[in-house]
Amino acid sequence: METRLVERLQRLNKQSVDRAFTVEALDWTKPIDKSLKWTPDEMITISYLPSYDLLTDAQKLRFNQLIGLSICEQFIWFENVLLNPALRSCKRIYKLNPEMNEAIDHFMEEEDKHGEIFLRMLMKAEPENYSKENPLRIFKLSKTQNFIMKVVTKFPQIFLWWIWIALFFEERTLDISKKYNKALKEKDVDWNFWQCHYYHMLDEVRHQQIDECFLATFYNKANPILRKINAKVFINFISSYFGPKRMATRILELMQEEFDDLSTETINTLKDEFDTLRTNVEFQRSAFSRQGLGRTYELLAQYDEMDDFWDLLIEESKEEHLGKNRFVRGTHSTILN
Ligand SMILES: [Fe+2]
Ligand SMILES: [Fe+2]
Repeated sequence: METRLVERLQRLNKQSVDRAFTVEALDWTKPIDKSLKWTPDEMITISYLPSYDLLTDAQKLRFNQLIGLSICEQFIWFENVLLNPALRSCKRIYKLNPEMNEAIDHFMEEEDKHGEIFLRMLMKAEPENYSKENPLRIFKLSKTQNFIMKVVTKFPQIFLWWIWIALFFEERTLDISKKYNKALKEKDVDWNFWQCHYYHMLDEVRHQQIDECFLATFYNKANPILRKINAKVFINFISSYFGPKRMATRILELMQEEFDDLSTETINTLKDEFDTLRTNVEFQRSAFSRQGLGRTYELLAQYDEMDDFWDLLIEESKEEHLGKNRFVRGTHSTILN
């Protein structure tokens, strides 16, 4: 087992070196088209609400663009505030073999680069709203939430749920890139945003596999009671993504400053419907499909402490994802097509 893990890490480390690219590998010269969408349509959560058509076409487009920006912000936050600090702590706390140490170094360096790419994208799209000092405008955490994240990342050996968050979101990152690929083919998204997600995916294909090594190295060896507690925290945390409301609320509030014809009544009607997303099959098929999250589902199914997770899903079950994952084999290897 240990030998296989080391071999896997050696292969991934070699790929990190062979396939390395810099921020400058991206073409930053193309102007951003403000008449186009910045996010694939199917990723717009409020488009699944019954009252979505209360918004005008101009408001729908702007909502779409702000979601595009918020995704870039979330990556900056997720990678620079959660993953990298947790990994820095792991290097300090655990006695790791050289292969894992090297893998973590590549991982952190790549995430720093992604943070730079997404910030540059934000500053290019809306220089009036973003700067190095202010990278987050839509995705803002409270002081308490920021404090909690600091504690979590300082003690990743206790708050092990960060590993499941990494697995879940890094696989979802690949799905996001695929959705951008599809939207670009249909000429339905700005090229610059597609480019960022395309380059991001080139590294994330590896990260998802390294996350599995984190699971084997850090989570599997932990105390079963600690694992149980962390499973509960993970399920609680991830539950909010199945009925997302925070980002949409913030965006609608920002839009009220931009649109005189966006009434509080319309916003409140939409807000009242946010909870319906939890039981919306179409939304779940797009955001949490087995094609997009199959590997994470396969792993979750192997841990009994994660049994409550399956209650969040309408169409997926633990039994279906146990064992060989027949649904997703090859999905991510064909991502570049
Ligand atoms: Fe990343
Ligand atoms: Fe990553």
